[in-house]
Amino acid sequence: MKLIAPTLDNLRKLYINQLQMLLSSEQQIIEALPTMIDKATDLQLKQAFQAHLQETNVHAERLEQILEEATGEANPIQCDVLAALVEEIEGMVTDTADDSIRDAALIAGAQRVEHYEIAVYGAQRHFAEVLGENAAAELLTQTLKEEEHADHLLREIAGRIDVYAEKEA
Ligand SMILES: [Fe+2]
Ligand SMILES: [Fe+2]
Repeated sequence: MKLIAPTLDNLRKLYINQLQMLLSSEQQIIEALPTMIDKATDLQLKQAFQAHLQETNVHAERLEQILEEATGEANPIQCDVLAALVEEIEGMVTDTADDSIRDAALIAGAQRVEHYEIAVYGAQRHFAEVLGENAAAELLTQTLKEEEHADHLLREIAGRIDVYAEKEA
């Protein structure tokens, strides 16, 4: 017998709950990126992180807008996945002594974050479409495209850096 009644008893509640967790994800990325910009050595990588920090601020604003329109408020719910990913990136950065290896680690970590975001935004957009939240679905699509672009750019930079890192070793 369940003592506590489940609160996510319909798709809309699940959708709102996941938007709140996604807001927490984006807020944690906004906090983590300045250190990643600082630790990156490759200029193109630094610029990619800087550009994505600006985009990430917009991602958080879009989620706040969707949540406010849907519920009248925009409160995050702690996303533990992002906290774990950020901790893992910090560990990799601490453990790398060489600049290009550190850049390779930063990219590997950042791509994990982008893939996580792509998975969650994809699911949330689907929920928005099912629920007939067309304006929200459009905003989520814009963010999803920017996450995919960030991932693509990181993959390109990795292609160049990893060859260099391997030669240096
Ligand atoms: Fe994002
Ligand atoms: Fe992102």
